[in-house]
Amino acid sequence: MKIFHIPAFADNYIWSIEKEGKISVVDPGDAKAVLNVLENQNLSLEDILVTHHHYDHTGGINELKKVMQGKVYGPDNLAIEGIDVALKENDQFTTLGYEFSVIETPGHTLDHISFHCHEKNVLFCGDTLFSGGCGRLFEGTYQQLFNSLQKLVGLPNDTKVYCTHEYTLANLVFAEQQISDQEISNYKKNVEAKLNKGEISLPSSIEIEKKINLFLMQKIPNDLKHLLPEESFKELRIRKDNF
Ligand SMILES: [Fe+2]
Repeated sequence: MKIFHIPAFADNYIWSIEKEGKISVVDPGDAKAVLNVLENQNLSLEDILVTHHHYDHTGGINELKKVMQGKVYGPDNLAIEGIDVALKENDQFTTLGYEFSVIETPGHTLDHISFHCHEKNVLFCGDTLFSGGCGRLFEGTYQQLFNSLQKLVGLPNDTKVYCTHEYTLANLVFAEQQISDQEISNYKKNVEAKLNKGEISLPSSIEIEKKINLFLMQKIPNDLKHLLPEESFKELRIRKDNF
């Protein structure tokens, strides 16, 4: 599966699945960024996949619907204009011949869903799981976001993780402050080197995230080890909010 990113706003990535001159895009917050790619690379737009209702993920839908050929797949949330197929847990759909299943991942927002292609080991997780971190809680509870991340960490290790934002380095700076861990420090150096070369830090993988992402609860800072995983998660999320 060929996947490339279209940069948008300050640090968003609109992920594009490409096949035979067509692309399907995930979370097109900015129509113009996508339209430019369609024109410059002579591609046509097939489908749109939407993870949640925030404007930086949905802002381009209506404009892009004028040029697209397929459907807009997204959460079962009437507040999002332009959704053609409203999706729930375990629903499946096909875009460009690739079958995706839906994983409900509430927490960042209540309507948040993630898209998993089992055959190609690909996950589009919007603002739920970031490399080295996770989304802020805007609507859900700590327990909901904890459960959502536990669902994602249960996917196969070789699952490639495509998040919507380039937050990796900032997340690793926070992680390093919470825990002394060689894998996290080494990975942070790698990410810094990539960013300095003008490359991006994504995709990540579930295997990498298990090693570097404290919010997946595979590595617990010493001062949180006496807590239940859910409590430790909540404390970490609060610390990150205030970081
Ligand atoms: Fe968001």
